[in-house]
Amino acid sequence: MSLKSKIITEKLPLHVAIIMDGNGRWASQQGEIRTFGHQNGVKSVREVTEAAAETGVKFLTLYAFSTENWNRPRAEVNALMELLIHTIHVEKETLNKNNIRLLAIGDLMSLPEKCRKELNEAIQETSGNDRMSLILALSYSAKWEICEAIKRISNNVCTGKLDAEDINEKLISSYLTTAGIPDPELLIRTSGEYRVSNFLLWQIAYAELYFSEKLWPEFTREDFYEALINYQNRERRFGQTSGQISKS
Ligand code: FPP
Repeated sequence: MSLKSKIITEKLPLHVAIIMDGNGRWASQQGEIRTFGHQNGVKSVREVTEAAAETGVKFLTLYAFSTENWNRPRAEVNALMELLIHTIHVEKETLNKNNIRLLAIGDLMSLPEKCRKELNEAIQETSGNDRMSLILALSYSAKWEICEAIKRISNNVCTGKLDAEDINEKLISSYLTTAGIPDPELLIRTSGEYRVSNFLLWQIAYAELYFSEKLWPEFTREDFYEALINYQNRERRFGQTSGQISKS
């Protein structure tokens, strides 16, 4: 029986973020080259996106390419860019059919022009959809994002558009690439690695962390449901005591 029936709709996280890890190791296990793992990772992207939308999650952020990933062998970087272009092109229709809006965060100007064009078209063509937002983190790192925000804030202070006294958590959030998107309540990482790898460092301050031993191409909709159920069984205290939480 599917774990889906055990999910309590009222206790769903609004925003789930995922570090999709283990494509390379999965490919090695199959005796294949790393790009074979990325190609098979797309199947999990599709499955988890569908599962998230069907359960009622409103925002799903996927770490598809980090700033640090540019340091991988050129052939792998090129293959990943080609895969992104192809996948976005092919999946655009499915996103529209499922009323899912595509968004992207990261240093998008550093992406190859063809990739940017495909991405912008898909963002434009899905902009009217409101069932769920699928946010791709591309050429993204949290430290890069925070540096960019600090540059813009200090510039606005210097030119008098902003008073330094007005800098608070809300203002900083509004300068990040995720402005307007609620912070993720649940962060999933696959492949048995216990790190956050420069992903949404500001936004995950109070997120529940869930680590799966599965490599990303093996991660199924049932694994996603299991993560949601695990999240729903946790007590989120936000610095308060258990007693205070049960009274509220
Ligand atoms: C991490 O596995 C995965 C990536 C760096 C890329 C993820 C990309 C995809 C799943 C395909 C395209 C995605 C979309 C959204 C269209 P790894 O290579 O670091 O694996 P390893 O740790 O085993 O080496």
